[in-house]
Amino acid sequence: VVITAPWLWLPAQIAHDISPSLLRWAGPLLRGGPSRWSPTEFLHLKFPNPLGVAGGVDKNAENVTAWGRLGAGFIEVGTVTPRPQKANLGPLLDRDVPRLAVWNRLGFPSQGLDQVARNLERTYPRRLCPIFVNVGKNRDTPLEEAYSDYVQCFHRLVPWADAFVVNISSPNTARLRELLTPAHFRPFMEKIMNSLELARQTYRLENGPVLLLKLSPDLDAATLEYILDVSCELGVHGWIVANTTLQRPGGVSFPLEGGLSGAPLRPLAEKCLADVLRILGPRRKGKLLVSAGGVMSNEDVAIRLNMGADLVQVYSALIFKGPFFFRQIAGAMAAK
Ligand SMILES: Cc1cc2nc3c(=O)[nH]c(=O)nc-3n(C[C@H](O)[C@H](O)[C@H](O)COP(=O)(O)O)c2cc1C
Repeated sequence: VVITAPWLWLPAQIAHDISPSLLRWAGPLLRGGPSRWSPTEFLHLKFPNPLGVAGGVDKNAENVTAWGRLGAGFIEVGTVTPRPQKANLGPLLDRDVPRLAVWNRLGFPSQGLDQVARNLERTYPRRLCPIFVNVGKNRDTPLEEAYSDYVQCFHRLVPWADAFVVNISSPNTARLRELLTPAHFRPFMEKIMNSLELARQTYRLENGPVLLLKLSPDLDAATLEYILDVSCELGVHGWIVANTTLQRPGGVSFPLEGGLSGAPLRPLAEKCLADVLRILGPRRKGKLLVSAGGVMSNEDVAIRLNMGADLVQVYSALIFKGPFFFRQIAGAMAAK
């Protein structure tokens, strides 16, 4: 690990903080574009390959072109919050290298809507693959007004978003996941769907952005069924399965708060994907299913696709295997 990934010598927080700037610097030196393997389509979107960058990697859309050059089939930027905000206070990030596990409680550090809009606008003409924009709420927005944060993001970012990802599944913003409970979900989601339609009409977008909901792997079976039923009824286009977990599987010893990702999340993420497919049944047709959580190798990618995911995403694999992960997977897929 040490020889192939020297950055693992750095403390997790420092590696996290400097990597966007390093990529911004190195980006223009990169050649090439998204690798072409198992290309796929959803509505008007064309994916050169089904493996993409998960939410949280390029929080401020600073490196969209670089990730395309590094071979990603799609890039999810964000989570974006309407107003700029800093990360939570206290310890934010840690790694368990032998277990390929990551712990974070960042809480949506974001340069805010206006800066992200400028970044997306600048790179838009050079984008190499579909761009998903993951949106969230500022930590000081009360839960009852959360929808207005999401709506502001839609209206400002809709010209550049191939898809919006509604993030109400992060464990690191107080009360956020309450929006995934029956007391809040339907009224919240109705406002979201109406405002997206309005944004679509305002900009006269024929192919309006796709709307995806990012799920938590910690939902109990009844709540998951409820969320999927309501989302189908309201016309959500698909789901990202899933975010980090508050559970602590696989013998990891991180603090109790904060989200766990990486290899120990794998069984939970696979179970969650299987549950979603089972609950949806025939309603799965015409929907987009994106699998995330513990994907660390080409075998993992193949398993998720074989299980029925349309697309797969990685974050923790980029921490342990580095930025050439997409090219490595493309090579392994081509050799099959
Ligand atoms: C340090 C870190 C920051 C993250 N930030 C976000 C975020 O801002 N928004 C989001 O939706 N998911 C975020 N995630 C979750 C990932 O997108 C992904 O769902 C999760 O890490 C599982 O995938 P993995 O096992 O490949 O890392 C973050 C994950 C990590 C490790």
